[in-house]
Amino acid sequence: MRTPTDLMADIGEVLLDEDRIQARIRELGAQISADYAGRRITLVSVLKGSLPFMADLMRSITLPLRIDLMEVSSYGGATTESSGLVRILKDLSTSIEGEEVLICEDIIDTGLTLNYLIRYLKGKRPTSLRICTLLDKPARRLVEIPVDYTGFTIPDQFVVGYGLDYDELYRNLRFVGVLKPEVYAAPE
Ligand code: PRP
Repeated sequence: MRTPTDLMADIGEVLLDEDRIQARIRELGAQISADYAGRRITLVSVLKGSLPFMADLMRSITLPLRIDLMEVSSYGGATTESSGLVRILKDLSTSIEGEEVLICEDIIDTGLTLNYLIRYLKGKRPTSLRICTLLDKPARRLVEIPVDYTGFTIPDQFVVGYGLDYDELYRNLRFVGVLKPEVYAAPE
């Protein structure tokens, strides 16, 4: 695996800078706090990409809230694109029955991950189940997803940073940037 020596050198363009991301998250937090006023919510984050987003979003919400974490992985390749099969690597650690659940995602791409998760979580009988995503890439959608809160709609570009990875790296960047094509086209 290639390890970059300078993360910034691999970024072609900053799509969303730190200030813009943080300002939008404050707006989302205010909106969610108003929509759920008087209730408590459970944020369910889907690891690993959503980690920074959930950490910032939860601190922008003024309501009592619980968090829980899931980790899923797709089976990969063409099989996933056609079947939408998802494997649960880490399940919820608390019951969400009777809870107001808000799924917190970093990006919706094909929609297959959330399509599976929505069905899975609905089976656990929450009072409500809504979706909040920082990024939406509608150009790649294969299944329709009812998104309740969207941070930014982005074009079909290879983005990294603020949780999003390439080869598990770049997640620690404070912004969302477009990866230079030569990085992911590079031979091992
Ligand atoms: C990303 C992202 C979503 C999913 C979206 O996760 O966090 O969960 O892909 O893609 P989809 O709409 O096409 O299903 P990824 O599998 O890259 O794992 P990660 O969060 O650990 O990086």
